[in-house]
Amino acid sequence: MISIDLKNIFPFVDKKNFSTNMISAGESLDVLHKGSGKGNDFLGWVDLPGNIEQDIIDNIKSVSLEFRDNVELVVVIGIGGSYLGTKAVETALGHNFPGLIKKEHPRLLYAGQNLSEDYLYDLQEVLENKEFGIVIISKSGTTTEPAVAFRILKQQLENKIGKVAAAKRIIAVTDSSKGALRKMADEEEYRSFIIPDDVGGRFSVLTPVGLLPLALAGIDIEALVKGSRDMAGQTSIKIAPDNNPALLYAAARNTLYGSGKLIELLVNFEPALHFMAEWWKQLYGESEGKEGKGIYPASVDFTTDLHSMGQYLQEGKRHMFETVLSVKESKNKLSVPKDKRNLDGLNYIAGKSLTEVNSMAELGTMLAHIEGGVPNIKIGIDKLDAYNIGQLLYFFEKACGISGYMLGVNPFDQPGVEAYKKNMFALLGKPGFEKETDKIRKELHAE
Ligand code: PA5
Repeated sequence: MISIDLKNIFPFVDKKNFSTNMISAGESLDVLHKGSGKGNDFLGWVDLPGNIEQDIIDNIKSVSLEFRDNVELVVVIGIGGSYLGTKAVETALGHNFPGLIKKEHPRLLYAGQNLSEDYLYDLQEVLENKEFGIVIISKSGTTTEPAVAFRILKQQLENKIGKVAAAKRIIAVTDSSKGALRKMADEEEYRSFIIPDDVGGRFSVLTPVGLLPLALAGIDIEALVKGSRDMAGQTSIKIAPDNNPALLYAAARNTLYGSGKLIELLVNFEPALHFMAEWWKQLYGESEGKEGKGIYPASVDFTTDLHSMGQYLQEGKRHMFETVLSVKESKNKLSVPKDKRNLDGLNYIAGKSLTEVNSMAELGTMLAHIEGGVPNIKIGIDKLDAYNIGQLLYFFEKACGISGYMLGVNPFDQPGVEAYKKNMFALLGKPGFEKETDKIRKELHAE
């Protein structure tokens, strides 16, 4: 279950402002459900949890059984929304040292999320003596980073096991009809899964974009979907506003934003949540950062970063608030042992579980940061299992849609992401970009 605690924003914001924002959040929720707002051709994710067909789940499960028997490694190729959701869920639910333990299911490796020559070279080296498969994910089917990685790794796989066998180990997740990847999948006869037209990349983790690789890694995707479905119920228009966690979160962060808190730090005390924060940053950054507006989404891993960022957070510029992801129960039990000689002086916590110690660190940090002028939103999660993570994913998506509408932007486009691509294509001499190439060369030579 997900809970939300807002009491520690009120030393910093007026209750009246919060109530006004709750009304605005309710209106935005209404717009989202009616589909009457900006970007309404990308609202497929709103009712997605209830609409995932059993056929798709069964199909994904049967592919994952086949891969489990035939490959040790699966390279998931994708970037942005086509990769971060999988990485976030896999990390949240998996072992903290995934490369060093025996696994019943194939291990996931990632590619196409950067353009580093050394990264891909090293990956090729790792794959050299392994049985591997590839899941290539791109909604547009034309994104440069995954396309480059796919060309290289596909050739490696074909050289290793032959073109026909390789085609059986490649799965494409892409649009039903558009883009180079769809064309390639059809021509090369790869198995493929479809990303619905009305679901944008960063809202796509509950489509085959996330469900397929997660199932390959042995994650219980049915529990994940069930969690998201229950959260869709808990954040629907039928729920009283004060009981709707997505409305409360959207209203709280916009109230803080209105009071000059321009940065939101997503805080965790579990290293397994590091990539959940990366996913969240994309979700909120790409959805809200436009038209000169938007909270800047940042993240820290505590207690690690308390020893690097702690000073700034306690006493630096007061333009931020914290949203703490607080996990109640650990998966495993481990306590501090007693030591007769007590040379390290730790016997005062002997017998306490690490979770108790960690939760005191969490409480102590929260009190200190509130004292230091940093408002705090607390999001409670019972434990890191597929059901709760499914709830968390949908909770953040729903709050993001509401929050973007409250800000007055279209939360479902990303026009700003194109700017770097145009320059890169011009610099690389991509056909069709000749004018831009001339312009950029002149600009560079004028410097
Ligand atoms: O949220 C988004 O739309 C983006 O982050 C995309 O997911 C990302 O750019 C990758 O795009 P594609 O799946 O088309 O390769």
